[in-house]
Amino acid sequence: MIIGVPKEIKNNENRVGLTPAGALALTSRGHELHIQKGAGIGSGFLDNDYVEVGCKISPTIESTYDIAEMIIKVKEPIEKEYGLIKKDQLLFTYFHFASYEPLTKAMLKSGAVCLSYETVQLTDGSLPLLVPMSEVAGRMSIQEGAKYLEKPMGGKGVLLGGVPGVEPANVIIIGGGIVGTQAAKMAAGLGANVTILDINLDRLRYLSEILPANVNTLYSDQHNINRLIKSADLIVGAVLIPGAKAPKIISKEMLKQMEPGTVVVDVAVDQGGCIETCKPTTHENPTYVIDDVLHYCVANMPGAVPRTSTFALTNATLKYAIQLADKGWEQACGDDPALRLGLNIVKGKVVYEAIADAFDLDYEPLH
Ligand SMILES: NC(=O)c1ccc[n+]([C@@H]2O[C@H](COP(=O)([O-])OP(=O)(O)OC[C@H]3O[C@@H](n4cnc5c(N)ncnc54)[C@H](O)[C@@H]3O)[C@@H](O)[C@H]2O)c1
Repeated sequence: MIIGVPKEIKNNENRVGLTPAGALALTSRGHELHIQKGAGIGSGFLDNDYVEVGCKISPTIESTYDIAEMIIKVKEPIEKEYGLIKKDQLLFTYFHFASYEPLTKAMLKSGAVCLSYETVQLTDGSLPLLVPMSEVAGRMSIQEGAKYLEKPMGGKGVLLGGVPGVEPANVIIIGGGIVGTQAAKMAAGLGANVTILDINLDRLRYLSEILPANVNTLYSDQHNINRLIKSADLIVGAVLIPGAKAPKIISKEMLKQMEPGTVVVDVAVDQGGCIETCKPTTHENPTYVIDDVLHYCVANMPGAVPRTSTFALTNATLKYAIQLADKGWEQACGDDPALRLGLNIVKGKVVYEAIADAFDLDYEPLH
């Protein structure tokens, strides 16, 4: 198969769809790889690293899209890329359709096959291509939260771990999945007083077994959240309902109950955010303040640590990319139910129910 890897052009996005090691796995199976010139630079890979493993260097983004039967990338196409996508082309990337209607409409119009990393799902419900980036974002959420809690950054001026004789910070983590668990580990490691909330009791039981003693588990309901936010220093939003918009757990009204300088890191921003006042920000301008509460809502957090993230992403996507390249999307999705669930839009039709529901579009189940 002819595969194209374009350079990411979203603001401050330095990841790339494949590492040279991943590219080698595909070229050694006879696939033709076209890597856009400079695509790997932000992650520390030179064009020559790809040439050495049998790739061709494509001079422009246009030439990369033009030649490829399958595009492997990281983030959803942005407006400038919409017109480059060809009918019947297979796009294997993150899309997060439910949070952005114009992208959904553009991909429907393109006639392309959109296979989303974030909805590839195993039978146990886990999301293998969201996991690595969630691990990165979860760990980063505490690093960023700690930074913005510093006074010069606009926060309360609280050190997460406190010091002997001084209380540690209160960290509230809403959602105990991958992001939440990694955040809890990092916050606990720094000595904070951590509470992690979820609606899944089995998950809470598991978390209570594996997390250290300075992490409390709590059922996520409005009463508990109302109570906790009043004394919170850092709140991490980490909920997910796969393929759907995030539920709004903290309303604008509730911000008034928080102390000035409280920091909210809404990692779920890519699904619309679980805090009502959340709106997507970028690494260039990551925060804003509403009612004295500092909001950090960067939609591509792992983009700030591209080298770690690119390795982690390719480690997870490669086995699926190989299936798609070897067999074509129809056969590969027919053989692997997990991959099949990644199909969101196929040649002008929405084939994933939650996306159709999000924008009141027709849902056409796949046969
Ligand atoms: N901003 C970024 O850069 C970035 C990076 C990676 C992931 N994410 C996003 O982070 C979010 C979380 O991802 P994840 O991998 O941890 O998902 P996950 O499925 O592993 O965990 C989500 C958890 O939320 C829980 N949940 C659902 N409704 C809840 C509620 N009302 N209250 C409390 N918990 C609730 C679920 O039970 C589940 O345990 C997703 O929206 C994901 O797209 C963002």
